[in-house]
Amino acid sequence: MPGKTSLFVPGPTNMPDRVRQSMDISNEDHRAPGMEKFWHPLISDLRKVFETESGQPFVFPGTGSSGWEAALTNLLNKGDKVLSARFGQFSHLWIEMCKKLHIDVEVVDVDWGGGTPHDEFEKILSEDNNHEIKAVLITHNETSTGVTNNVSATRDLLNKLNHPALLFVDGVSSIGSIKFEMDSWGVDVAVSGSQKGFMLPAGLAISCVSQKGLEIAKSSNLPRAYFDYHDMMKVNETGYWPYTNPMPLLRGLREALNMMMEEGLDNIYSRHLFLAQAVQKATQAWGLEMCAKDQSLYSNTVTAIMVPEGIDSTDIVKTAYNKYNTSFGGGLNKVAGKLFRIGHLGDLNSTMILGAISTAELAMYDVGINFELGSGVAAAIKHLKI
Ligand SMILES: Cc1ncc(COP(=O)(O)O)c(C=O)c1O
Repeated sequence: MPGKTSLFVPGPTNMPDRVRQSMDISNEDHRAPGMEKFWHPLISDLRKVFETESGQPFVFPGTGSSGWEAALTNLLNKGDKVLSARFGQFSHLWIEMCKKLHIDVEVVDVDWGGGTPHDEFEKILSEDNNHEIKAVLITHNETSTGVTNNVSATRDLLNKLNHPALLFVDGVSSIGSIKFEMDSWGVDVAVSGSQKGFMLPAGLAISCVSQKGLEIAKSSNLPRAYFDYHDMMKVNETGYWPYTNPMPLLRGLREALNMMMEEGLDNIYSRHLFLAQAVQKATQAWGLEMCAKDQSLYSNTVTAIMVPEGIDSTDIVKTAYNKYNTSFGGGLNKVAGKLFRIGHLGDLNSTMILGAISTAELAMYDVGINFELGSGVAAAIKHLKI
């Protein structure tokens, strides 16, 4: 089919030409003199994205999942207990990783589409008199259900209970797109990946660790080697890596950060909110529900739209791809067939989001959903007109 395939999955996201071109380079010597002039400003810009003064950013070859593993293995000890909630596929996968690493994970199950169960957390943490729970794990933006959690409220709860558990946050589909305040939320380790808000291909696990977390990592004893924070940090201080680094991806990250600084982080967050609202208004106009149970949970980076009984959402995703050259996300695990997802993060503007909404209408019409054609597009246009 002529024309471009449109990408509206919640990662990987659209790559700006500037970022793509910055990676089209010959191989270069990663141990060339003067690398610190490249590396140190990059780390300093990452601190701005995480909103931290003293946190230590890390960039490892890998994806978001390897960032999870690095966080767990660097900051925890064998047999440690952690608390987490399962409200979607990514919180589920992080919990499963804990189990594989023999971490004792206490799980609060929440209906998918819900958010952090602070009442249950309060009960569990307040009964944990001996402070056996060493960390609380939160998925900031649950990409499978389109739910954004209030991390600040989790920090407030820990403070209120005077509980010393570390706060681990998965910001894979939020950081760089939704405001993230590492220092003021008291986050000990935040994990992200290159293929979402950073507008790059997958391949970099981008994390940030508090000074408290780094101190703990000096003596923690879960096995780790390649992803050891202190090994990486020691060499990074000189501008280099302990092993061969993926220079083209790092050049791409440099350019992505340039673009993010030029636009301004607050402007990026407002743009994401504005575009998300267009998708939410369209969904309401179609008469469909979102998976996110409550407006306070609506995500600015992905909207998960429930389809009516008798419709398989997989057919919408297939039709959009096969007939209209457009990728949407499907439902994962428990919500497979029940919802489809429009990713609206990264390098995106109003015209692109209108393309996504109108294609969703075409595909929904084709699979037999009963709604007024054009209603979502009209609602979105009314919102997007300036
Ligand atoms: C919230 C969240 N966490 C973790 C991951 C896993 O990241 P990766 O696929 O880069 O390993 C994803 C991937 O989509 C995600 O959305």
